[in-house]
Formats: sequence, C-alpha cells, structure tokens
Amino acid sequence: MNTYDPAWLPDEAWHALRGRRALVLADGGPIADTLGGELHEGSDPDLVLALRHHADTSDAARAAVRRAPADLGPEGYAVTTHGHTTVVLAESEHGLLYGLFDLLRADPPADGGIRLERPHTALRKLDHWDNLSVHPRMGQVERGYAGGSLFWDDGRARNTPEELRRLHDYGRLLASCGINAITVNNVNVHEDAAHLLTDRLDDVVTIADALRPWGIRVHLSVSYAAPVLLGGLPTADPLAPDVRAWWQRTTEAVYEAIDDFGGYTVKADSEGQPGPHSYGRDHAQGANLLAAALAPHGGVVHWRAFVYDHRQDWRDRSTDRARAAYDEFTPLDEQFDANVILQVKHGPIDFQPREPVSPLLAAMPRTRLAIEVQATQEYTGQQQHVCYLAPMWSEVLGFRPYGEDDARTIADLGASGGFAAVANTGNSPFWCGHPLAQANLYAYGRLAWNPALDPDTVLAEWTHLTHPGAPDLVRTTVRSALEGSWRTYEKYTAPLGVGFMVRPHHHYGPDVDGYEYTPWGTYHHADRDGVGVDRTTVTGTGYSGQYPEPWSDLYDSPGTCPDELLLFFHHVPYTHRLHSGRTVIQHIYDTHAEGCAEAEEARRRWQRIAHLLPGERHRETASRYEEQVRCAREWRDQINAYFHRKSGIPDERGAERRECGT
Ligand code: GCU
Repeated sequence: MNTYDPAWLPDEAWHALRGRRALVLADGGPIADTLGGELHEGSDPDLVLALRHHADTSDAARAAVRRAPADLGPEGYAVTTHGHTTVVLAESEHGLLYGLFDLLRADPPADGGIRLERPHTALRKLDHWDNLSVHPRMGQVERGYAGGSLFWDDGRARNTPEELRRLHDYGRLLASCGINAITVNNVNVHEDAAHLLTDRLDDVVTIADALRPWGIRVHLSVSYAAPVLLGGLPTADPLAPDVRAWWQRTTEAVYEAIDDFGGYTVKADSEGQPGPHSYGRDHAQGANLLAAALAPHGGVVHWRAFVYDHRQDWRDRSTDRARAAYDEFTPLDEQFDANVILQVKHGPIDFQPREPVSPLLAAMPRTRLAIEVQATQEYTGQQQHVCYLAPMWSEVLGFRPYGEDDARTIADLGASGGFAAVANTGNSPFWCGHPLAQANLYAYGRLAWNPALDPDTVLAEWTHLTHPGAPDLVRTTVRSALEGSWRTYEKYTAPLGVGFMVRPHHHYGPDVDGYEYTPWGTYHHADRDGVGVDRTTVTGTGYSGQYPEPWSDLYDSPGTCPDELLLFFHHVPYTHRLHSGRTVIQHIYDTHAEGCAEAEEARRRWQRIAHLLPGERHRETASRYEEQVRCAREWRDQINAYFHRKSGIPDERGAERRECGT
C-alpha cells in the first residue's frame, strides 16, 4: 500500500485507463494538460477525448458528434463507442475530465450507443473546516476525525514535494466524483487564517495551483471584520465607502494572484463570528458588500444561513433554534445580489442524525440557494461508527415541500446555487480516518452531480471501485456494513427525531441531558409524563407553520406527523401510540436494543472476512467496530435506563432481553 489508501481510485483501474492508446483533442488548458500528461497518447487510438470543435480530426469523434445533442453543457459529456474506439465528447475540458472518470465507473456503451451526462448544478463545493495550526480545544480540523489538515501544517501551506503529490492525488479523487470547488479554511476564521486574504495569499496560491489541474476552484472563508483586522479601518460597516473600497481592492489583488478564484464563504453573526448586525445592517447588506467586490471577477459569496440565538431558553417561543434561519432570512428574499448564494444546512438545527428538511430551502424563490450537508460525522459517530449518510441526504434532496402532487423537490428548489458539504477528509492514511467513511465523500460528490441517484447504486459503485477483484463475500460484506448503517445509528441514539443527547462540546457518546445552550431545563423536555418538543402552531413554538401545505398540517398533528420526527414536533406521553403500533416508550426500548444488536452483528460479519481482505483496511475497520459496539451499548444502556427512570414504565420485553443477554 502507498503511504495512503488509493480509496476508489485504485492503481489497477487508473492504470488500465492510462494503458489505453489515447488521443486528446482539446485546446491547451490546465485540465487538458493534465489529461495529456496522465494518458498515453498513441497511434491508432482506442480512446478519444474530444472537444466538439476539434472533433473533425477523428472519424470516431465525428461519429460521436453526429449522435450527440447540439449542446452538452459546460461540464457535460457524451460517451460513445465507434468500432473499437471509445469517445468522450464534450464542450469543455471539464466535460472531458468527468467523461474520463465515467469510464472508471461503467463500461462504455455498445457500438453505436451513447451515454449522456450533465451535472444538476454548476457548483459542487467541499468546505474544509481546517485551521492553519492546531487549535488548543478543537485540534487542527474543527469537527475533523481524519487526522490533521491536508493543506496546512503549523501555520503554512503544505508544499514539500510529497505533500504536493498528495494534494494532487486528492484533487484527482475529488474530481473523480464530481467535486469542483473547495473552501480551504474553517468558517470560524481565526486570526492567522484571516490573513490568507491579504499578506498570506501566497499560501492559497499554492493550493489553487495544486488543484487547478483537476478542475477544482479554490474558495476562502473570510472574516467579516477583515477591513478592521487587516485593513486598519475603524469599521466593517457594509455601507461605509471605505469598507467597500477596501473589499474591492483586496478582492482585485486576490484575482491578480488567482484568476480562477471561486469566491468567499462567510459565517457571519453566528456563534461569535462578526457580521453586519454589529452595524445595524442585515445579512443582505452584508453579503452584497462582498458580492459587489467579487462580481467583476465572476466570483460568488456563499453566505451561510446558520444563525440562531444560542442562549435559547424556551421561555419565549421565538428563541426556538429551529425557527431561526427562516425567521431571519425569508424577509430578505429578493434582496440578495445575483452572485450571493445563501448556504443552508439541510435541517433547521445542526446536522443531527434525523431532522426535518429545513423549511428555508423552499422559502426563498428569488435567492440562489446551496444546500449544505455534513460529510464529517460530527453527530453521526465521528468516523468511529459506520454511518453511510447518502440515504439521509437522498431523502432530503427528494423531499417534495409542496406535497406529492407537486414534482418540485428540494434538489430543485434548495440547490439552485449548488451544493456544499463539510469535508470528512484529512491527512489520515485512509483520507477519512475510518476506511468506510470514504463512501460518504464519494456519495456526496455523486449526489451533487445527480441528486436523483439511488444511494444503494452509489454504494455499489463505490464498493466495486474500492475493492477491485475482491471476492464476492468481501463486496457484499462491505455493502451490507454501510447500507443500513444510518438507520442503525439512529436506532441506538436519540429517539424519534428529538436530537442531541450527546456529550456537550465534543458531541460524541451519550449524555441524555447534555446540551450546551439550555440553561433552563433540558433540550428534549422529558419529564415524568412525556418527552419531545412542542413545535406546533397552536400550543408550541410555531415552527411547523414555516412549512407550506400539506406539511405544516401534517407536522402539526401527532396523528399525522411521521413517527421518525414525532419528538421533534411534539411533546407526547410515553404511552402515545406510534403509527408502527408501538408506544413511544416501548419504541425507545426496542430500537435501542435492535440498533445495538445490529452494530454487534455488523462487527461479527466484518470479522468473518479478515482472511479475504488482509491488510490495514480490514484491521482499521475492525478496531473501529470495537469502539462502535462499546459506544452503542453505552447509548442503549443510558437511554433506556434514563427513560425507565423518568417514565416508571418497564420494558415489556425486559425479561426476554435479560434472558438472551441483550
Ligand atoms: C456546528 C459545529 C461547529 C461549527 C458550526 C457551523 O455547530 O458544532 O463546530 O462551527 O456547526 O456550522 O458553523
């Protein structure tokens, strides 16, 4: 093995592609140069990568042009077969790149056939929450579970030949699943990172140069207070002419250094980060300031909608954290400039294992939106637990906010400006710490390219690519380890969508009453009689009213609210009967026992393939299964004991469970 795992780009597959006699018909650009450099050009080619306007020089490419539609789009491509020659036809070098990777995933169509692909949206971004150096409390990568940063080491951009080689391989890995943009530093911009915008720009140039050959544009998280911190101005007020001029000058200098720079990612007025509110201005005024500086260069601002009152106390319903983003941003629809993209977390709270879809994603028709998911497993087992997140993302993306009769999905409405994911990668030998967590990175890229893909199909692709030539039992075990793993995780953690119950601050392992921001009472509102948060319109915080019909009605009543979200929307007695027929309390007991048993079974199955999958990938996963099972038991025992004590209602299957030792 290399010093790091090849993930889903095993040398064999890549070499097989590189071994073909290729012909690249493109203009000289950084990606075309990469393709030319990676592939072996030969006479009598059997693989032709052609831009449409160069197709005339090859019979096979000409035949592809005849078959393909008139315009494949800026990143789209067609794969065709002409005799013994495979052709990738595209309008741009980006399309050629994605077409080449397509051939890793699937055989070319039969002679005369054609396969067409174009991405759902143009911006498919990965946000690294990387700090430049190790942070005393958070480590180097905030919520990072995969070692240190791939970009930064002790305050500087990594730039040794080995480090740049790895960055190059990282770019290839990301491009191969369709990711085309990356934010290289944490959204919480610490002081040293703020300087990347000005006097430390060279460091960003290093990263941009390494990723450009793979069609990946670099974005930067910036501090809203930069004019004060870096420019020596007395204010960062978005309406002050000096502040405007400063952003303009600074942004010009960025584009002089990096002409394909993507833009700024901003967390403002949230969790202590500075923002326009300090000057009595709103988010639109704040975002438009940066947008104006970026617009002449074609850059965008990703303005995050993750805002909430973190002193939430439940005594006033307007402090319900779930309501915050919608309340704050919907009045501003129509006020954002065209190059502002409002980046919205997929749920209204914070990447819990189960949340309803954020209503904001359907409520800003005149604003470009990007949906943000979290590949890093902050609340989903921190890459110690297997938790394949694509089924959750896919549910969100396919959600129809106006009901089943209206075909518009969240992927259509909430991703008009693209996708963003918090990265789960780092400099661990397996990129993601847990070898199986790579599947989440891969799936994010694939779903951002095509949100309608079936997560099981994506998993099959990843498994196949990652384990070439492995015995069937290895592949079926890997797939079954991941397939239902999100549901398993959900079963042994916080029940029925209620959320949290994790240890405060680091968010790993159970602590039923542990939540950072409720000085009065608990987050889940469990008492002697019942549990759950009343977010209904009549007696609760009114959050359910933020949804359009039919969802506002459906969520508003415990009789129609889906079981898995019941405690997110309702405070109900423990004896409340779910649609499943079980009572809430018995559901808690049963699912915690089941989830834990499922984790144990997954560990057993993994042990069974030790001889078939030798090496670190098996060992590393096996040792993480030990931790997962330990932690799942801890969750089960704490949750079940807690609710038994609170409710006084025994587990009706308690005796049976004691007998079989679960
Ligand atoms: C979560 C996470 C923080 C992060 C924040 C964000 O709250 O715990 O570490 O900074 O999300 O998305 O900005």
